[in-house]
Amino acid sequence: MMDKLRLGVNIDHVATVRNARGSAYPDPVRAAKLAEEAGADGITAHLREDRRHIGDADIERLVADLSVPLNFEMAATDEMQAIALRHKPHAVCLVPEKREERTTEGGLEVAREENRLAHFIAPLQDAGCRVSIFIAADRPQIEAAHRIGAAVVELHTGAYCDFHAEGDIDARDAELERLREMAGFAHSLGLEVHAGHGLTYDTVGPVAAFPELKELNIGHFLIGEAIFSGLTAAIAEMRRMMDDARS
Ligand code: PXP
Repeated sequence: MMDKLRLGVNIDHVATVRNARGSAYPDPVRAAKLAEEAGADGITAHLREDRRHIGDADIERLVADLSVPLNFEMAATDEMQAIALRHKPHAVCLVPEKREERTTEGGLEVAREENRLAHFIAPLQDAGCRVSIFIAADRPQIEAAHRIGAAVVELHTGAYCDFHAEGDIDARDAELERLREMAGFAHSLGLEVHAGHGLTYDTVGPVAAFPELKELNIGHFLIGEAIFSGLTAAIAEMRRMMDDARS
């Protein structure tokens, strides 16, 4: 029996629905509290530069109200660094961000920006935040994340999930193998290994079975599924599948 895998629930898209009408509801902080009660081990929220879903006030309320750790996702910009240093969340996950993208499309190019990122994360680590870097399952990126002193890498599962959705089984399985190998490699360097993006009931099992994995971050599918079964049931079902994959 492997270690229990932590489930971080990303509540961004509760805010997407709220913002579609400019109303005060549905409230992502209420969803976060419910997720906590349903067994989430952490809450993930991405404050995007354009504030398309989560807003500054949501982050403030999450920091004040949560009992489980907050994983604050952000781009590596001065503005976001100042916000993170003000709130000192448990974890800061650095993600690439392009204004025109629909979601976080690729991993961070750590290798290309190594020097800047090393300086960028130092004050966050001094403030006590665990710094996580969202990257593709790519050896040079993992090595660069290790060199800059990150505590955690989160491996991008988006390509694996896309191949699955397209029915390209060979490409999906090749990507899964790459993720498995790179989870092992990152762990061998002493990095804590997380994964996430695009995971569903259909795709979570094989990833959850990686022995080196400590945490999965899942949002869009769970919030969508909550329309049909409720957030509590959706989280419980995801939790069950993660546990089954490791038993
Ligand atoms: N992990 C990271 C770093 C992300 O950027 C996201 C999306 O915000 C997720 C996990 C969750 O992805 P999804 O919403 O597709 O489950």
